[in-house]
Amino acid sequence: MATEYRTETIFTWGAPPLKFGVGALDEIGFDLGQMGLSRVLIVTDETVSAAGIPQRAAQAMQGAGLKPTIFAGVHVEPTDESLREAADFARDTEWDGFVAIGGGSSIDTAKAINLLTTNPGDLMDYVNKPVGGGKAPTEPLKPLVAVPTTAGTGSESTAMCILDVLALRVKTGISHPRLRPVLAVVDPLTTLTVPPHVTAATGLDVLCHALESYTARHYESYARRRPEQRAVYVGSNPVSDAFIEKALPLLSRSFRRAVLTGNDLAARTDMMMAASFAGMGFGNAGVHLPHACAYPIAGRVRGYRPPDYPQAEPMVPHGESVSLTAPAAFRFTFPSDPERHLRAAELLDPGAAGSGDPRERLPRAIVSLMRDIGMPNGIGAVGFTDADVPDLVEGTLKQQRILAMAPRDIMPEDLTAIFYHSFQNW
Ligand SMILES: NC(=O)c1ccc[n+]([C@@H]2O[C@H](COP(=O)([O-])OP(=O)(O)OC[C@H]3O[C@@H](n4cnc5c(N)ncnc54)[C@H](O)[C@@H]3O)[C@@H](O)[C@H]2O)c1
Ligand SMILES: [Fe+2]
Repeated sequence: MATEYRTETIFTWGAPPLKFGVGALDEIGFDLGQMGLSRVLIVTDETVSAAGIPQRAAQAMQGAGLKPTIFAGVHVEPTDESLREAADFARDTEWDGFVAIGGGSSIDTAKAINLLTTNPGDLMDYVNKPVGGGKAPTEPLKPLVAVPTTAGTGSESTAMCILDVLALRVKTGISHPRLRPVLAVVDPLTTLTVPPHVTAATGLDVLCHALESYTARHYESYARRRPEQRAVYVGSNPVSDAFIEKALPLLSRSFRRAVLTGNDLAARTDMMMAASFAGMGFGNAGVHLPHACAYPIAGRVRGYRPPDYPQAEPMVPHGESVSLTAPAAFRFTFPSDPERHLRAAELLDPGAAGSGDPRERLPRAIVSLMRDIGMPNGIGAVGFTDADVPDLVEGTLKQQRILAMAPRDIMPEDLTAIFYHSFQNW
């Protein structure tokens, strides 16, 4: 009998249906009509709105007889405050469904709006424990269609919403299968206006999603779970692996070109495909060390202001923050499965196969990419000093859910070493 197994024998994999390709957004009226939606709220931010993308979608919807309204009040890298404000705006009307148009910030905001306008209680009730109450939604959510305009987060296919809890200076999330969009409409044309630094940062998020989920603890290594205990993130598994093995060569081929020549539609299309594939991978397998370290990096930043981002306050964009410790993190995880790390390095940088210290191959491939696309050289370059390390370690240790997905057990002194080795990556 299956219940006799002490370790896990089952993995789950989920993703919404996907409509992918140049011009896909122009068909969104048809797709929403097929779902029987009429009164829809388009959730976006000011910059994406200024690029005319939500208006293009609204026109397609009106052409199909729908009644769209645009809300362009998304905060880039959402906070508990910005999510509550967005939900308050949406509460005034009875919507048939929601359409998120933008990067992860817009898609995550739409997920929170959907949750908070269909379910009782406050945002913090649903935020993952121990920061929030970890409550599951009791009521069904409305259909949410996600249209990513960055080749980045993969939020269009994940069951996750990430936010900054301002009072606690902590980044955390809400994860539940009901948050997952019902359809992802991915149109590479929408990314032609993404500026170079945002292209670089969001692409590094894709890279880390791919590498972290590929090297995450294998699903069979967990203790056997009952169905109601099985989390959204199950560990690396054959289906997620297959997506990542497709994503990495696309990044290898087109990442540099997408940053340096923003109007190269073929490169943008490869990046969108890589982001979608990586989302389908990590959205089920999970991420580990670089993402865990990224949360305190983003939460405790003081003086860094990246180019091409709108806000006045200091910030380290999500994609940058995950990349800063990646070389040191993968050097640390290498012994857990050398073959897998070498395979990832080969897919990312086929030219480097076979040369030098095997443990350095993946860190070297990541560093080469980061240098070429003009990313900051380590946590020192975004304003951290030696004195910040204990604080960064303490913040990372709070991310136990993510750390548990790492393929090696991690002691506080391991994190200290990873942060020290990440001051300068090259
Ligand atoms: N839910 C998930 O599964 C998941 C996964 C990873 C990250 N995230 C979260 O997503 C957020 C980051 O999202 P992101 O990296 O996609 O970027 P973003 O949504 O924060 O956007 C970054 C910047 O690019 C601009 N922009 C977006 N599309 C544009 C376009 N087509 N043309 C011109 N400008 C454009 C935005 O206005 C913004 O200024 C973070 O809050 C992060 O924590 C969520
Ligand atoms: Fe991410």
